[in-house]
Formats: sequence, structure tokens, C-alpha cells
Amino acid sequence: MQNRDAEPLLRMEHIVKRYGDLVANDDVSLKLYKGEILAVIGENGAGKTTLMKVLYGMEQANGGCIYLHGGPVAIRDSAQAIAHGIGMVQQHFMLFDPFTVAENVVYGKEPKAGLYFDLKKATATVGELSQKYELPLDPNAKILGMPVGLRQRVEILKVLYQNADIIIFDEPTAVLTPQEVHELLKTMKKLAAAGKSIIIITHKLNEVMEVADRAMVMRTGKLIADVEIKDTTIEELSFMMVGRHLAETDIPAVEPGEDVLRIENLVLNGGGGAPALDRLSLHVRAGEIVGIAGVSGNGQSELAQCIFGLAKPDGGSIKIRGREVGGCNVRAVRAAGAAMIPEDRYIWGSASQATVTETGIMGHYIQPAFSHRGVLKSKKIQQFAQELIDRFAVKTDGIEAKTGSLSGGNSQKLIAAREIMHKSPLLLACEPTRGVDVGAMEFIHEQLVKKRAAGDGVLLISSELSEVIKLSDRIYVMYRGRVNGEFTRGHVKEEELGLLMARGKA
Ligand SMILES: Nc1ncnc2c1ncn2[C@@H]1O[C@H](COP(=O)(O)OP(=O)(O)OP(=O)(O)O)[C@@H](O)[C@H]1O
Ligand SMILES: [Mg+2]
Repeated sequence: MQNRDAEPLLRMEHIVKRYGDLVANDDVSLKLYKGEILAVIGENGAGKTTLMKVLYGMEQANGGCIYLHGGPVAIRDSAQAIAHGIGMVQQHFMLFDPFTVAENVVYGKEPKAGLYFDLKKATATVGELSQKYELPLDPNAKILGMPVGLRQRVEILKVLYQNADIIIFDEPTAVLTPQEVHELLKTMKKLAAAGKSIIIITHKLNEVMEVADRAMVMRTGKLIADVEIKDTTIEELSFMMVGRHLAETDIPAVEPGEDVLRIENLVLNGGGGAPALDRLSLHVRAGEIVGIAGVSGNGQSELAQCIFGLAKPDGGSIKIRGREVGGCNVRAVRAAGAAMIPEDRYIWGSASQATVTETGIMGHYIQPAFSHRGVLKSKKIQQFAQELIDRFAVKTDGIEAKTGSLSGGNSQKLIAAREIMHKSPLLLACEPTRGVDVGAMEFIHEQLVKKRAAGDGVLLISSELSEVIKLSDRIYVMYRGRVNGEFTRGHVKEEELGLLMARGKA
């Protein structure tokens, strides 16, 4: 247990960070003790990532000071941060796919035998580290094809190899399966017990309650609370973050209509092994939210890609409002009446150099509302972008700001807004609330329910089981590329559902 009377390992005092007129960190002070797990929480755009970038030397503060072991330090770049014992587990992993675990871990600080890279020593050191911290990994395995949870483990080893005393995790669980989350939280506790100090940013308050000793709450750039976890509750944390109590989303009864999506015997061959999609059939009716439950990696991503024209099926049929779209391109699928919130907003949904307006219109600019004979109606487009950011409370400098300047959760909100606001009869919502704060999550849920009430169909693919159960009128369980179970609202047997997801049978 950490000693709170001792000098904190780290103190950040009166940190100010501005981007133009925007004050992303407004006089923020933070303490971190040896062996402590500190959660930094707050709404999207509150300034959490910025504060960590300042600590890790990726951004320079406009004011304030950082102290380590009681003495002031200057951290001008990440190399200096690492030299001071500060490590960051990157969210968008920066690993080299063709190389092995060991090669990636030692990259930048390779052991040498004479002038040459000493692979043997690297492998041995990485093997020792992996044992010492109980992070099982084969040092000789290649990164290519590794699941996200293992890649993250490589990143953690890398930080440990660099001898970090302070380890920063920025939303580490957003992309993990529940099992991987469980493992990671266990790892964090072990690291803290071994004397490491940990800062975790997360929107999942149950994780905060489970793993942290203390939580700091940020709102609009300021630190507004600093609480001991043993003295607080999820409800209290949530209230501090968003400044109001959240209501349960009300889901009125809707009589479903015709099929908006019907998939029959869909096949997508896998890379050599088992098929990614194996004669999968499902349907979504107008006025329905249909959820896909499954452990990620069981074909959910491939299903979304096939429906949306991003992958070409090897067999079967996909009909949107009766029209065959299997094998069609994205434009044709959109024209048939589909919209999609993509699973990975960085790969499919936006470009960091694009403006908010450009991102807001992406994929929709050929609609008559926005263009006429190939000429874009800029006024209409700008109005639409403004409406997106107003309605979904996207925090940005304005419609001309670069998408890359938005905080993670705000870019997710922008893309969700774009796809929900276009009135398409079918919405494919893949991880629609990934990285958004509890208030924005509630809002997005309400919008999906409204869409359903308006008579549209939603296919919800989410690794958040609670989200799937809460919103879905029907749930299909996916296992190894097939549907192996179906539940309807009010008749979900959670244990059976869990077993179908994990083992394929109940
Ligand atoms: N490079 C940048 N240029 C301009 N503004 C920026 C830049 N980076 C961040 N901001 C702004 O600073 C504010 C804080 O952003 P930050 O990324 O720290 O938020 P966050 O608390 O991590 O949010 P989220 O939960 O969504 O990840 C936001 O308003 C964001 O738009
Ligand atoms: Mg962030």
C-alpha cells in the first residue's frame, strides 16, 4: 500500500496547456504516490489525454511545473520522459508487425554484442521480464496476427524494459474483450504491488472502482475533484463527471415492419483456415434494433465489412430492402439505404487532416441535398456540419477545425452523429459508443432508440454486452462465423448467452 505521508513520486503543479484560445488544461495539479493506481476521468474533451501528453513530453505546457521525487524536471520529449522513468502504453500500438515480441520490446534500446544487435540477450531479457511480471508471451513470436490483448502486453513489456516507475494507460480497455480487460486489470494491480505507479484514463467507471486507489475528475480543462475510491460510488463519480444524474433510456414498444436487411447463408473465406463467416443468416426489420453478441474475433468485423461493401463475400446473399447488395461497393450499399458507424474510426471513418465539415459529409456528399450535378452545395454542407456538432455536443473549435484536433471521444461523436443523422432505413452501428463518456453514451443510445421509433432498422455490433442487452429487441449470438443462438427482449438468459459466446454451446 502506498504511503500518503511520504513525498509523492510525481507532482504536476499548475499545469496550463493552450491550443490557440482553447485552454485544454487550466491550472491542473496532480499527485501520484509510489505503488498507487490513479484513475483520471472526465467528459470527452475534458483534457485528460492532453495532461498525459504533457507528462510524457509529447506536448509542452504553457505553464506549470513537474516534480519527480521532490525535484523539478523538464520533460521536452518522450525520450526524456522515458529517461525519467515515465512510460506510456500507447493506445494505437506502435509495434512492427513483421518483427518478434523481443525485437519490438528492445527497439530503441537494443542490447549489443560488440557492434551488433544481440538477439539472444534480447530474447532472454524479454523472457525474464515476462516471467517476473507474469505477462505470458513468447519472445520469439511475431506480432503479425496477434490479438489486441497480446499486442498491448508487448507494449507493457516495452515500458517495463525501459524501466518505467510511472506507467500511463490512456483508455487501454476500449479495444479489449471482457476477458482481456480482466487480465489487464489484474496486471495493473500486480504492477502496483511491485511498486510501480499507474495512471489510467478510462470512461468505464466499473473499471475505476475495481482497480484504482484514487480518482481525479476533470471537467473543461480543470481538476474538479480528487477522491479516494473506497469513499465513493459509481453514481457519485458519474455525477461529478457530467454534472447531472443520468436517466435510464426509455425504450417504448414498436411494432416491427418489413425486413430492411436479410442475410442468407453468407460465406466469407478466412485466410487459409476456417471460414470467417460460415453460412450465416440473420435479418433486421424496420423498427428493430438487432444486436450481435459475441467475443470479438468471431466474424463480427467481417460481417460488417461484407454488408457494407468493404469485403467481397464468397457465397450467400445480402439484401437491403429487398435489393441484393452482396459484392457491391460502399457507394451502392449507401444508395440502397444503409449507413454505418465504423468499428475503427481512424481507419474507416475520418482523416485527421480533414476539417470537421469534411468529416461530417464523408460518404454522403453525393446526396441531392448536398450536391447538384457534381457541384457541392457548400452552404448546405456547412449547415449540416454545424447541426451535427450542435445536436451531438461535439466539442470543437468549429466546423473548420481539423478532425485530428478533436479529442478521441469527440471524433467518435462526430462520426456517430453523421451516420445517425442521415436518414437511412438501415444503420449498421459498430461499437457506436467506443471511447465516449457516460453522458454521450446515454445520448447516443437515445438517438438509436429514436431511429428505431422512426421505423428504421439498426444492426448493433458491440463488444459491450450491457449495451447489446439494453438496446436490442433481438440478439443473435455469433460464434466462429455463425449465428448459434437468438434471444428476444425480456427473454435474455444471461448465463446461457455467456456460454454461447464463450464456448459455442450452452
Ligand atoms: N492538437 C490539438 N489542437 C487543437 N486542439 C486540441 C489538440 N489536442 C487536443 N485539443 C483540444 O483540447 C481539449 C482536450 O482534449 P483531450 O484530448 O485532452 O480530451 P480528453 O479528456 O482526452 O477527451 P476524450 O475522453 O474524448 O479522449 C479538446 O477540446 C480538444 O479538442
Ligand atoms: Mg483522450
